[in-house]
Amino acid sequence: MSNELYAVVGHPVSHSKSPRIHSLFASQTGEPVEYIAIQAPLDGFAETVRHFFEGGGKGLNVTVPFKEQAWALAQSRTARAEKAGAANTLYQNSQGQLVADNTDGQGLVQDLITNHSVQLKGARILVLGAGGAVRGVLGPLLAQQPASLTIANRTVAKAEALATLFADEAGATTLGACGFEAPDQPFDVIINGTSASLQGDLPPLCANVIAAGTVVYDMMYSLQTTTFNQWALDNGATRVFDGVGMLVEQAAESFRVWRGVRPETVPVIETLRSD
Ligand code: ATR
Repeated sequence: MSNELYAVVGHPVSHSKSPRIHSLFASQTGEPVEYIAIQAPLDGFAETVRHFFEGGGKGLNVTVPFKEQAWALAQSRTARAEKAGAANTLYQNSQGQLVADNTDGQGLVQDLITNHSVQLKGARILVLGAGGAVRGVLGPLLAQQPASLTIANRTVAKAEALATLFADEAGATTLGACGFEAPDQPFDVIINGTSASLQGDLPPLCANVIAAGTVVYDMMYSLQTTTFNQWALDNGATRVFDGVGMLVEQAAESFRVWRGVRPETVPVIETLRSD
């Protein structure tokens, strides 16, 4: 069987690990998948997507800065993409409509629960940041029924807006919003979804948020310990993870959506770490 074409679209995109991850999935599962990276012009995302599917392409991953545009462009959205307000996965349904999905939140939850044995049900969770990355993961985190989920952000109004947006999905979870200085008590799980580390900055958190057993997760993926995780280690954290598992898990979920086959992720995470 000849290969079917998939791609990641971004700008820039040359650093993307997605082609590597999906080719590992393809060899592992035997699925006839060819996966490439496409850099779309900043003003040419819609045209790039149209051209890809008209040329017989089967599915796209979407990365920075096009996730919101991918969401807006789609004619149909999965429930998790609808609430996320952004899409990282596109495909055509049997009527030829462009469907948007978002597998980022599922990727984070899967990595925490399956790969790191983190208990989210009943946990007190602190999420840092209130941008697109955080919005994408709130629904799947709330679905795990934590005891509380506190969104802390530099711009408090944005955290408050997200708490309002997700109020209907909170169920019995206490959902709150505040600035970085406000949380002054230990949390079970702390997730950094800000882009502060990219500028070498740290959210100005009180060290009391970390207790023995606190799990610290930086959604950023880095070969070195991230700035945020180093701060956590310096302040007593012992269970500290970066976003490589989330990256592979969201990719595996996209692969499953497209191909109906879920690849094994642990060997791929190990390969990426040793690349
Ligand atoms: P993304 O799509 O990566 O989420 P974004 O929507 O621009 O990007 O959101 C970036 C997030 O990181 C925001 O929560 C932002 O805080 P503000 O809402 O106050 O802008 C946060 N952020 C970025 N740089 C930061 C810094 N130096 N210190 C603290 N927070 C920062």
